[in-house]
Amino acid sequence: MNEKGNGSVTLSIAGTNKSASLPLLHGTMGPPVIDIRELYSSLGVFTFDPGYAATASCESKITYIDGEAGILLYRGYPIEQLAEHSSFLEVAYLLLNGELPNKAEKAEFEGGVMRHTMLHEQIRSFFNGFRRDAHPMAVLCGVVGALSAFYHDTLDINNPEHRRINAFRLIAKMPTIAAWAYKYSIGQPFMYPRNDLGYAENLLYMMNAVPAEPYKVNPVLARAMDRILILHADHEQNASTSTVRLAGSTGANPFACIAAGIASLWGPAHGGANEAVLKMLSEIGHKDRIPEFIARVKDKNSHQRLMGFGHRVYKNYDPRAKIIQRTCYEVLEELGIKDNPLFDLAMELERIALNDDYFISKKLYPNVDFYSGIILKALGIPEHMFTAMFAVARTVGWVSQWKEMIEDPSQRIGRPRQLYTGTPQRDYVPLEQRG
Ligand code: ACO
Repeated sequence: MNEKGNGSVTLSIAGTNKSASLPLLHGTMGPPVIDIRELYSSLGVFTFDPGYAATASCESKITYIDGEAGILLYRGYPIEQLAEHSSFLEVAYLLLNGELPNKAEKAEFEGGVMRHTMLHEQIRSFFNGFRRDAHPMAVLCGVVGALSAFYHDTLDINNPEHRRINAFRLIAKMPTIAAWAYKYSIGQPFMYPRNDLGYAENLLYMMNAVPAEPYKVNPVLARAMDRILILHADHEQNASTSTVRLAGSTGANPFACIAAGIASLWGPAHGGANEAVLKMLSEIGHKDRIPEFIARVKDKNSHQRLMGFGHRVYKNYDPRAKIIQRTCYEVLEELGIKDNPLFDLAMELERIALNDDYFISKKLYPNVDFYSGIILKALGIPEHMFTAMFAVARTVGWVSQWKEMIEDPSQRIGRPRQLYTGTPQRDYVPLEQRG
């Protein structure tokens, strides 16, 4: 961030002699940012930005998005290159530490993470407290929050070693918690993690294997899962990441913060969208019914959205959607599925929407979730587990962003202000005098 010699913005309030010169801050990429920290003290006003569409809530060096151009970079590296050449744990190292690891660093990091995959045996009993039909995201919120109760001795957020070990724990234990939430929902025995497997391979193993017979994870499917995890690992200051930062700004421990992030991710406008896409596709059912569905989406009174389309930041094709679509082909081919009605329906829906004025004029393009549900389903992951898979991946981003915030000396408690439109001050009226 460069504060000097890069201009300022003068803001004056019409009809008064009040004005303030606000510095313009420049990042390494992206639009400049007006520093309004002194706005209230110099002009006595706040800014109004519900949904934070024009507000930079923090300074970050982790992820960059150019929504107009459809560009996503982790620590400067294009997502396409990472998805093609890297692995999820290498990306995790990159997001956490800022650079790609050398061979020794990579081996040490992977070994470090994989050594923490097991859950405290007492955590098993937490699962029994849930109903069998509990949504896995409810289980994830509860169990991840409960991890704080198991690591009292390493909860000092100002201790770098505590931060490091809890980053390992969260990244390592999340697949185990997610897989156990699934096993619990279908009444199968929990599968313990296997540290001789890769991260994505182990996740698929714990989800799909049973103790009664040997299970070999298909390497093509493990690679596809790994790629899905890379694509979902971080996405700058989205709703769940901002939730993690806000919770963390109070000094809350990282397990509590990540549990808050999981809660935020759960909503259908965020991480729940891929589950909603599949529901939508099944509802449409057949290509012939697409025009009728599109008409409903365009009808302002219907509240029906084309799920998996549109994004707060991307006003172009989400680069992750392209990679997922390609990976989807690979997985279906590996599985010998020539005709996948859902995939065919999604492709046709995309084609029709991308040629429709409504979507063109509003710059609505497929986002990462449009195809991720189809691929997850092909990998044997049931729909109610989709958002939990997203949470496994995003834990890396949440932990990296939380760590960056804690290590930022200018960090303060997150405390937005408001435009109050309620009743002005008035006196209490005794009950007998009220009409
Ligand atoms: N289908 C139909 N119309 C849409 C859609 C959609 N998917 N998305 C936005 N629009 C329309 C809105 O109706 C609005 O139209 P208007 O200006 O005539 O009122 C306009 O486009 C702008 O929409 P907003 O809701 O203001 O855009 P916002 O940036 O707040 O929302 C969001 C972004 C939530 C992602 C939205 O596009 C959406 O609901 N998409 C479907 C859900 C989805 O796929 N979410 C996943 C996001 S990616 C992720 O979290 C990993």
